[in-house]
Amino acid sequence: MDGKKDVLILAIESSCDETAAAVVRNGREVLSNIISSQIALHTLYGGVVPEIASRKHIEKINQVIEAALSEAGVALEDIDAVGVTYGPGLVGALLVGVAEAKAIAYAAKKPLIGVHHIEGHIAANYIEHKELEPPFLCLVVSGGHTHLVQVEDYGSFTIIGRTRDDAAGEAFDKVARAVGLGYPGGPKIDKAAREGNAEAIMFPRARVGDSLYDFSFSGVKSAVLNYINGCQMKGVNWNQADVAASFQKAVTDVLVENAMRAIREYMAEKFAIAGGVAANSALRSAMTEACEERNVRFYYPSPVYCTDNAAMIGAAAYYEYLNGTRHGWDLNAVPNLKLGER
Ligand code: KG4
Ligand code: ZN
Repeated sequence: MDGKKDVLILAIESSCDETAAAVVRNGREVLSNIISSQIALHTLYGGVVPEIASRKHIEKINQVIEAALSEAGVALEDIDAVGVTYGPGLVGALLVGVAEAKAIAYAAKKPLIGVHHIEGHIAANYIEHKELEPPFLCLVVSGGHTHLVQVEDYGSFTIIGRTRDDAAGEAFDKVARAVGLGYPGGPKIDKAAREGNAEAIMFPRARVGDSLYDFSFSGVKSAVLNYINGCQMKGVNWNQADVAASFQKAVTDVLVENAMRAIREYMAEKFAIAGGVAANSALRSAMTEACEERNVRFYYPSPVYCTDNAAMIGAAAYYEYLNGTRHGWDLNAVPNLKLGER
């Protein structure tokens, strides 16, 4: 930091089913990253139950924060600011993190910085790629979002494409349920697809007529359901691994195609992916290949920084801190917060 004082952020994330806290130094160095996952609990119900998620966050959040501070070897007094996800997400889940962050910041007399969850996902790329700086193009693919984003600067974004219906991760989760793989769908399809033939079934690659960069995934999801129903009605066996691999190929083909179109049109030299689906091995290798062909530098976070975590919120909060963003004690959870809104 060239003699400048280090900035330590305590970050909190509770927007969905992970209770997470982290300590991040100067936006890019993770001193601790604690994640308490509720996956086992929600698996019983085949998906996230919001009320259960909120209750679990309340039970876990203090332990998770204490663990984050102690693993980082820092006390609250050493922290420069508290960063917290305040949207988008499940309102009850978000509220737990926001209330906790406000209480800590108020008691410790530290600034409070509300962070947009998607800004966090994008910032996950800064942690392991010290040289990555805006501007770059980023594809954010998670359970709730599918956005092609032009990252103009730290904290400054333009969304150039988005899903018209299901998010990419949502499609993975729904198809996984339909083919009997269960929850959470993405990693299970990823694994099953390795044993299958991606060319076995030609599922549709949806084009959104009036937009170059928008996505639609409800069609491919319905096509998978129809295929399985059709096989069952005809009494024909279908192969789970082939369906998983062919579905995954249909989704990744469209993600790669739209991203490469945007790279061409925007003349992007750097491209990143982020969000839970960015952990997908087929997507990572297809994007690597497509970017190599075009001489575009390609960035992706390690799987632990793709799915929900607090280190990414700490990275985003650091740049908001430098930009002067400070929230008041009236900060509230905003379930449908738009990217770029304050
Ligand atoms: O970013 P994330 O943890 O939470 C949201 O902000 O939504 O993303 C969760 C989503 C889930 O839909 C999950 O199935 C998907 O990311 N996911 C994957 C993989 N790992 C997680 N999808 C495909 N392949 C994976 N390996
Ligand atoms: Zn997320």
